[in-house]
Amino acid sequence: MSASLRAISDSAFAPAALLRQPSIHELEARIKSHEWVNGQYRLMVLAAPDCVLDCRPGQFFHLLCPQTDRFQPYFRRPMSIYGYDRERGELSFLYKVAGTGTGALAELEAGGTLNIVGPIGQGFEIRPEWQRPLLLARGVGLATLAPLAKECASLGRPLTAICSARFPELLMSTDLFRDCGAEVITVTDEEGNSGVESLTALIEGLIATRGIDAFFTCGSSRLMRMLQDIGTRHGIGGQVALEQHMACGIGMCQACVRPFRRADGAVNLRVCREGPVFDLQEAM
Ligand SMILES: Cc1cc2nc3c(=O)[nH]c(=O)nc-3n(C[C@H](O)[C@H](O)[C@H](O)COP(=O)(O)OP(=O)(O)OC[C@H]3O[C@@H](n4cnc5c(N)ncnc54)[C@H](O)[C@@H]3O)c2cc1C
Ligand code: FES
Repeated sequence: MSASLRAISDSAFAPAALLRQPSIHELEARIKSHEWVNGQYRLMVLAAPDCVLDCRPGQFFHLLCPQTDRFQPYFRRPMSIYGYDRERGELSFLYKVAGTGTGALAELEAGGTLNIVGPIGQGFEIRPEWQRPLLLARGVGLATLAPLAKECASLGRPLTAICSARFPELLMSTDLFRDCGAEVITVTDEEGNSGVESLTALIEGLIATRGIDAFFTCGSSRLMRMLQDIGTRHGIGGQVALEQHMACGIGMCQACVRPFRRADGAVNLRVCREGPVFDLQEAM
C-alpha cells in the first residue's frame, strides 16, 4: 500500500514540548474510492496503514495535489480528517472543489495514489466536564466536525449538531451525525434561518432545554464570534478548528501564524502546529 513510508521526527521542530504530536508520516496511499457527494464536494477514501490512523478528530493531513494539464498547484493543501477506520484501514477526506489544488485533486481516480503527510496538529479535546456538547458546523466545517461526533458517541456524550449551509443540497454529514445518535438541526441561507440572530435564539433555547455545556465549531468566522458572545454570556467554553493558508504545514515556515487572545495579551501561534484546534475564546 505505502510505496514510501517515512516517519518525520517531532523533535526536529518541537520546542513546545507540551504539544501533543505523535509521529507524522509521509506516504503514498492508494485511492479506494473518489465520488461526488453533491455539486461542490467530493469524498475520497484512501487505504491507509495503522500508523497514520492513530489520529484525532480535528487533525489534518497535508495533501500533495497532482500536477495536471489544467492545474499546477505548488504547495501541498491541508485537509481535515473526515473519517478514520482502523478496522477497515481507511482514511477519508470530504472536500470542496475550490481552486487549483482541489481542482487537481478532483482529477484523481480510484486505483491511483495520493501522497499524504500526517496526521498533523492538535485535535479536539472533549474535557470531562463537557458532558452535553453542541457542534455548530458550516461548509467545510461539516467535514472537520464529523469525526468529533463519533468520538462523542463513543464517550456516551449526548450531542446536538447544528449543520449550516447556503442551500439544503449542500448540507452534509447529517446522516453521519444521526448515526452517532446526535440530535440534528439543519439551517440554510435559502430558508433564512442561518443568520446570527436566528441561531443565537436557537442556541440559547438549547442551553435552557438541553443543558448544553460546551461548543465545538468550524467553518465560519461569523458563527465563531457568535458562539464566543453566547459562551461569554452563559459561561460556556469550547473549541474551534481554524482554517488558514499554509505552506509547510509542519511548523517551520510561519506562513499560518495568527494572533490569539490570552489573559496576558495577544500571542502569535501557528495554526498548523499549535492548532488547528484552539480554545474558542482565544481565537480572534
Ligand atoms: C487545517 C485545515 C483543514 C481543512 N480541511 C478542509 C476540509 O476538510 N475540506 C475542505 O474542503 N477544505 C478544507 N480546508 C481548506 C482547504 O485546504 C482549501 O479549500 C484548499 O486549500 C483550497 O485549495 P485550492 O488550491 O483548491 O484553492 P486555491 O486556488 O488555493 O484558492 C481558492 C480559494 O480558497 C481560498 N483558500 C485556499 N486555501 C485556503 C485555506 N487554507 N484557508 C482559507 N481559504 C483558503 C483562497 O483564498 C481562494 O479564495 C482546510 C484548511 C485547513 C487549513
Ligand atoms: S504552514 Fe508553515 S508554519 Fe504553519
